[in-house]
Amino acid sequence: MKIMVIYGNPKQGGFVHGCLDHVAKQLEQNGAVVDRLRLTEADICDCAGCFTCLRTGTCAINDGMAPIIGRMRSVDGFVTGASVRNGFFPALYKRFLERICYILGFGRELRGKPVLAIGAVGKASGKKALGGVLAFSGFQTIVTDYLFFRTNIPTHLKPQDVADRLDAAARRLHDAISSGIQRSFLARLSGAVDDFVVRRFMLRPNPDHVYDYIIGQWRKKGML
Ligand SMILES: Cc1cc2nc3c(=O)[nH]c(=O)nc-3n(C[C@H](O)[C@H](O)[C@H](O)COP(=O)(O)O)c2cc1C
Repeated sequence: MKIMVIYGNPKQGGFVHGCLDHVAKQLEQNGAVVDRLRLTEADICDCAGCFTCLRTGTCAINDGMAPIIGRMRSVDGFVTGASVRNGFFPALYKRFLERICYILGFGRELRGKPVLAIGAVGKASGKKALGGVLAFSGFQTIVTDYLFFRTNIPTHLKPQDVADRLDAAARRLHDAISSGIQRSFLARLSGAVDDFVVRRFMLRPNPDHVYDYIIGQWRKKGML
């Protein structure tokens, strides 16, 4: 079992990264291979908006993203974490998400992969917005848990204060992967509606062949 842990907070050594370390160690103790992706250390440029990836499946920017996408393809599940910033999520995380949204999201490559999301806020706000990005909203993943903690400002809460909840969530993620968890009926239904809209209004018209790569991917999966 291979799991990627995505450290998505620009702050090092804070509460969120402490929680991610805790969960990563638990998963390793349970026999999982953990691939740690630290976004602050990764070479990730802003998406240039050229749509080359939609046409070809390859990004035109030559930075560290291609190997990261390869690593994401190879894992069975994810643990993601970041904290609320100005009511939303860190810009760092958004930049990363923009670089995978067409290739992995539209290509439906993370569909059915379990995700444990861990978020934090100082006082209030941002829970929904942060949860959406941490869960890879729209990618049709399976969220086994979204843990959202209030840490206060400055941070008083420590990962060991919430160790029980982290351990339980790590166990649920591990069990979900080992049992081959399937998306619920409702999730499959809403995914099917989403797929229909993409198929009908984007892929079938395919202006200027812009969606060629996605069409190839969907054909391979028998979705077209
Ligand atoms: C730039 C910045 C913006 C923040 N914006 C908010 C906010 O809008 N609402 C809030 O309650 N806390 C806010 N916080 C507090 C963080 O959410 C809190 O310190 C964090 O979740 C603690 O986790 P960490 O130690 O991993 O960073 C902000 C912190 C920073 C650094």
